[in-house]
Amino acid sequence: MKSLPKVELHLHLEGAAPPALIRDLAGQKRMDIAGIFDAGGAYTYKDFNDFLRVYDAVTNVLNTPADYARLLTEVLHKSAEDGVVYTEVFIAPAFCGGGDLHAWRDYLAAMQETAAWVEKTAGITSRAVATVLRHLGPDNARATARCAQETAGGWLTGFGMAGMETFGKPADFRWSFDAAREAGLGLTCHAGEWGGPDSVRQAWRDLGVSRIGHGVRAIEDPALVRDLAEAGVTLECCPGSNIALGIYPNWTSHPVARLADAGCRVTISTDDPPFFHTDLPREYDHLADAFGWTEAEFSAMNGFAIDAAFCDRPTKDRVG
Ligand code: ADE
Ligand code: ZN
Repeated sequence: MKSLPKVELHLHLEGAAPPALIRDLAGQKRMDIAGIFDAGGAYTYKDFNDFLRVYDAVTNVLNTPADYARLLTEVLHKSAEDGVVYTEVFIAPAFCGGGDLHAWRDYLAAMQETAAWVEKTAGITSRAVATVLRHLGPDNARATARCAQETAGGWLTGFGMAGMETFGKPADFRWSFDAAREAGLGLTCHAGEWGGPDSVRQAWRDLGVSRIGHGVRAIEDPALVRDLAEAGVTLECCPGSNIALGIYPNWTSHPVARLADAGCRVTISTDDPPFFHTDLPREYDHLADAFGWTEAEFSAMNGFAIDAAFCDRPTKDRVG
C-alpha cells in the first residue's frame, strides 16, 4: 500500500505533530507538557473533550512561525514516504497567533516557503485549509475568516471548520463561510462525526460546502445518503480516527463501504495520525482487510479526492 500514489484531503497539521517533535520543542522552551503522553511516549486522552485538551497543549508548544515550518517539513516528508502525492493540511489561525492577521501572515509565509521547498525536494504537492475551531464560537470564526480572506490564493486555497460539532449550529458560522467563498476559497466543514444526519444536512445546506469532513453518520438517514451521492458531495472519511475515538467499534462496522456502495464520493484520510496510531498506508491496509478493497477501489477514491481538491486544474492534471 505504501507505493500506491495517494491523495489526502483531511490532515490537521497540529494533529499530525510527531510526539518527539513536541517533546523536543517543549524541552528547549522549558514548557511543562506533563499529562499528554502515555508511558510509551504516545499521546493519551480519555475522550474527545480530553483529546481537544491534549491538542491544545500540543499547539501551545508550537508558538512561532519557525515551529510551524519545522512541523510542516516533518509532516510532509512522512506523507511523501507514505506515497502521498497531494495533501491538504488544515491549519487553525487561532493557534497561529490567536487570529491576529499580522501574526498569521508570518506563520503562513513560513509554511508556504516550506511547502514550496518540500515540493521541489520530496515531490509532494500541498495546499492549506484555514480552519475554524467551532467551539470557540462565531466571533472567533470571523477572525479566522478575515485571516483567510486577506491571505487567500497561493498556498492557502481552502476554508473549513473543525472542533466540537455539538457546539452551536452551522448557520451561526455562515458569515465566515460566505466571506471565504467570496475570497475564492474552497469550502469544507466537519459534520456527521459527533453529530448525526441533521448536522451533515445543515453544514451542507447552510454553509454551501462542496466537501464534508467525515460525514459518515449520514448513513443513519438513507435519504440524505441519496442526496449526497446525487449532488456529488465529497466525503473526507477518516475511519481510523472514528474507531480510535469510539464512534464505531471496529473496521467492519464502519459505514465507509456502505457509503461508497451507495454512490457517495468517498475519500480516505488520517485526520490526526499520531493521536490515532495510524498513517495512510495503514488505513488502506485495514480497509483492504475489512472490505476486500483492492487497488481499483483505492484508485477510484483517489480520483474523487483529486476532483474535490482545492487546487487549480493544471495542478490536478499534474498530480492526478
Ligand atoms: N480537530 C482535529 N481532529 C478533529 C476531529 N476528529 N474532529 C473535530 N475536530 C478535530
Ligand atoms: Zn478532522
